[in-house]
Amino acid sequence: MKSSLAQHIRAIEDYPKAGITFRDITPLLADGEAFGHTITHLAERYAEQGITRIVGIEARGFIFATALAYAMGVGFVPLRKPGKLPAKTISKSYQLEYGDDALEMHVDALSATDKVVIIDDLLATGGTVLAGIELIEQAGAELHECAFIITLNDLPGVQRLNDAAIPYYTLCEF
Ligand code: PRP
Ligand code: ADE
Repeated sequence: MKSSLAQHIRAIEDYPKAGITFRDITPLLADGEAFGHTITHLAERYAEQGITRIVGIEARGFIFATALAYAMGVGFVPLRKPGKLPAKTISKSYQLEYGDDALEMHVDALSATDKVVIIDDLLATGGTVLAGIELIEQAGAELHECAFIITLNDLPGVQRLNDAAIPYYTLCEF
């Protein structure tokens, strides 16, 4: 399953700016069988692990995280870009491959009894997921694993997760 996934990811050169090869997941999403296999594979990996919530990162991470939460029959927690969540939030800023941003989570979204998987479509510099992990830790929840559809091995995210001894799983590497 893992080896065949790369054929559903499209490379767009110089987007969103010169020098960036954008890994486009829309062909994967458009293929019902491939998308379904992706979610089933992750649901099987995280079955019977005591997972209580799937945490997803706006926006592309939501696509996989909500499907996975539904497939597993567990709840979904959104990590959103600033100013989008209506109740009291905790926030963490970070740097991207192409800019700055921040993630927010409702302060009551997770508790110390939660064991979570955080999922995003792609790991590049690791700034986004490390900000998400910090929010999970601030809430006192247990991180079981990070999951990505794609990891970019020429960017520092993989090394940063390894250095921090954060467990992660990826379906497709470039
Ligand atoms: C992309 C991607 C990851 C993040 C990875 O999101 O979906 O969340 O960048 O990069 P990093 O490892 O360098 O942090 P983006 O902020 O472009 O937002 P989007 O999902 O709304 O398109
Ligand atoms: N997010 C950060 N870097 C990216 C890339 N190269 N392709 C797609 N999404 C990204």
